[in-house]
Amino acid sequence: MPPLLLFLFLVSCSLTAAAVTTSDSLQLELLRLHAPAATRLDYLRGLFHSDHLRQRSIVQRIGQRHIRRRTLAASDNTSSAAEAAAVQDSFAMPLSSGAYTGTGQYFVRFFLGTPAQRFLLVADTGSDLTWVKCRPRGRGGRKGSAAGEGRVFRPESSVSYSPIRCSTDMCKSALPFALATCPTPASPCAYNYGYSDGSTAKGVFAKESATITLSKGGRRRKLRGLVVGCTTSSVGASFRASDGVLGLGYSGVSFAAHAAARFGGRFSYCLVDHLSPRNASSCLTFGPTPALAVPPPRTTDLVIDPRLQPFYAVRLKGITVDGDLLRIPARVWDAGRGGGVILDSGTSLTVLAEPAYSAVASALSRRLSTVPRVTVDPFDYCYNWTAAAAAMVPKMVIHLAGTARLEPPEKSYLIDVAEGVKCVGITAAPWPGVSTIGNILQQEHIWEFDLRNRRLRFLRSTCRS
Ligand SMILES: *[C@@H]1O[C@H](CO)[C@@H](O)[C@H](O)[C@H]1NC(C)=O
Ligand SMILES: *[C@@H]1O[C@H](CO)[C@@H](O)[C@H](O)[C@H]1NC(C)=O
Ligand SMILES: *[C@@H]1O[C@H](CO)[C@@H](O)[C@H](O)[C@H]1NC(C)=O
Repeated sequence: MPPLLLFLFLVSCSLTAAAVTTSDSLQLELLRLHAPAATRLDYLRGLFHSDHLRQRSIVQRIGQRHIRRRTLAASDNTSSAAEAAAVQDSFAMPLSSGAYTGTGQYFVRFFLGTPAQRFLLVADTGSDLTWVKCRPRGRGGRKGSAAGEGRVFRPESSVSYSPIRCSTDMCKSALPFALATCPTPASPCAYNYGYSDGSTAKGVFAKESATITLSKGGRRRKLRGLVVGCTTSSVGASFRASDGVLGLGYSGVSFAAHAAARFGGRFSYCLVDHLSPRNASSCLTFGPTPALAVPPPRTTDLVIDPRLQPFYAVRLKGITVDGDLLRIPARVWDAGRGGGVILDSGTSLTVLAEPAYSAVASALSRRLSTVPRVTVDPFDYCYNWTAAAAAMVPKMVIHLAGTARLEPPEKSYLIDVAEGVKCVGITAAPWPGVSTIGNILQQEHIWEFDLRNRRLRFLRSTCRS
């Protein structure tokens, strides 16, 4: 890649002219490949469908108790003095909505290898594996062989790429979805990462370096020893528009744990409105989050529960609509009794287990009972929206452990599906089962995942720097 282009990408995650220019060219490239959904309703139907499939895969993943992963890197004290010195510093990467590609994901710009190769990855708190579409030499140079025609990582072009062998303990016990097959001790450790919507990513594990730019002074640094997947074949809608996944979940091998361990034990992101144009970007930041200093953020427990790993959970106390506490059995929020609530950047619409869904949906619809209903499949409650309706919007508040309250803007739960039509943008999941706070409910807030102190802090923000 020409040095100039690399410089532009590394310069900032804020809305500088340079970043916009470069990201446009990158995104246009993607747009040509993947026509966005024809209408907003088509787009939302797509989200509804993929969220349901994802919910199923979340439930499956949580059910896989036999996958025991190593204790977390973020809590160990092996970091060197140089790394400890970096604690006060931070680095950030541009994060933007993938809506222009028709997906409900957020994309982050990421630089992998030496010299750095650039990628656009799904920022996924529900995933512990970081992987990129990859084309090792000898795997056929033909277009599309490595999962689509977008960018692919070329391991031979990186001097820091180091395959993990299948005979290592790491392969045998610490890596998610590693395959048991090991033809020779020196063979690479292979994976088949299954997402139960039928999407899969197959490839081999390696250690690799990423390039980051420190917030102070803009110096570049390498993050070494990251576990990454070199994906030689991937199937599934979720991966068509991106080059791979950045694993922000909680596990010993996730990028989040690894990077946070070196940068203050924490990371944060601000999600722009999910319908923002593609040039609106915010940040995924590792290290202290200056924006959370004033005014004081809301603070609650970040629950890291082995039963729910790699997902992050919160303790939910209840939901109010216009101040009335809804009658929802406490076990719905309790991971020990078949429920629990996770916060997921890769799910779009919030998914509530049936008893919670029916309580919330009926409370919201009761407040809107004088607004004319319209039928919009697959949503249960949709309205012909008028100026009069706007005055009646009920206020939904999510009460978390401690005194923290998430007060999402109305547009995050009464979503525009078409001109003059709004629908309750929350969907139902079977009970018993986990509930998921999706990225639309998280939008326009900064969220800080403090892994070291097991604390979640959040604050309303437009996410525009
Ligand atoms: C790890 O480091 C922290 C802060 O430097 C310290 O408080 C803690 O006791 C250490 N833990 C262990 C297990 O050494
Ligand atoms: C994004 O692009 C649109 C149209 O191309 C432009 O009007 C808008 O100002 C841009 N926004 C930012 C933040 O650059
Ligand atoms: C909403 O109501 C207006 C006025 O009654 C009507 O003209 C319009 O067709 C309705 N829209 C929908 C989507 O039903």
